[in-house]
Amino acid sequence: MDFNNKVNDYDKFAEKRHYEVTNGMKKSLRFVEKPMMISMLPNLEGKRILMLGCGTAEESELLSKYNPKKITGIDISEKSIAVARESYPNCDFYVGDMLKLPFKDNDFDFIFSSLAISHVEDKDRAFKELYRVLDNGGQLLFSVGHPIRFATEKIDYNNTSYHVIGFEAGNDGNHILGNYMSHTKQVNYFKDNEVLEEFIAPPSYFFETLIKNSFVVENFKESRCIDECKEVDEAYYNRFHELPQFMAFLAKK
Ligand SMILES: C[S@@+](CC[C@H](N)C(=O)[O-])C[C@H]1O[C@@H](n2cnc3c(N)ncnc32)[C@H](O)[C@@H]1O
Repeated sequence: MDFNNKVNDYDKFAEKRHYEVTNGMKKSLRFVEKPMMISMLPNLEGKRILMLGCGTAEESELLSKYNPKKITGIDISEKSIAVARESYPNCDFYVGDMLKLPFKDNDFDFIFSSLAISHVEDKDRAFKELYRVLDNGGQLLFSVGHPIRFATEKIDYNNTSYHVIGFEAGNDGNHILGNYMSHTKQVNYFKDNEVLEEFIAPPSYFFETLIKNSFVVENFKESRCIDECKEVDEAYYNRFHELPQFMAFLAKK
């Protein structure tokens, strides 16, 4: 497949990712991102759902509980879609780029997109494409990384590393830490040498780009780690109960 956008390391880690998500090992999804997305779901009964950037598609299990008419998934990673096809035979899957979707106009009533849109730099074009494939009155729910976490700068102080956003007090303004307001590329390094490139932007950028593309924004949330995490990892809970890791938007055509 020849796409302009990058597959990143999603092909390489598809099977591992599927194993970790299905076994509740990804705390960010289990305790933070998915609870936020579930709390924002509209009525899905009888709806045609598109999971955009579905990866290995564990989210199809969550969505199928709400009695939709049909669930379709699309992802740029061939390997992820191969795992998804094998694991969730009741859904239809496509390998494809969200900037050029292989669907007709007005094909879906609801688009669910978890942590995928931030991989694309041209969000204007992505929202145009999503607007096109949504039916009139259809809704788009998506999550992306929050700049409070992903636009920080790492600094070392007293042998400890900190992720910081702000500016040096009393300074003339030249020493700024992080890039909260910019729409910029971030390269994130995870364990096992997994490297993922994302384009992080502040909430205002998403509001403006959605509105420019004729969407009506119906809801916005910043994530908060749920209490259930406390018994599993208290430090993780404390950090992400207080600081947003992700944010999500619900918008209507
Ligand atoms: C963080 S994963 C999220 C997977 C899944 N939605 C979940 O929450 O577990 C992001 C996914 O977006 C996909 N992706 C990145 N760029 C894409 C593009 N241009 N078009 C379609 N999918 C894309 C990646 O391949 C990856 O599977």
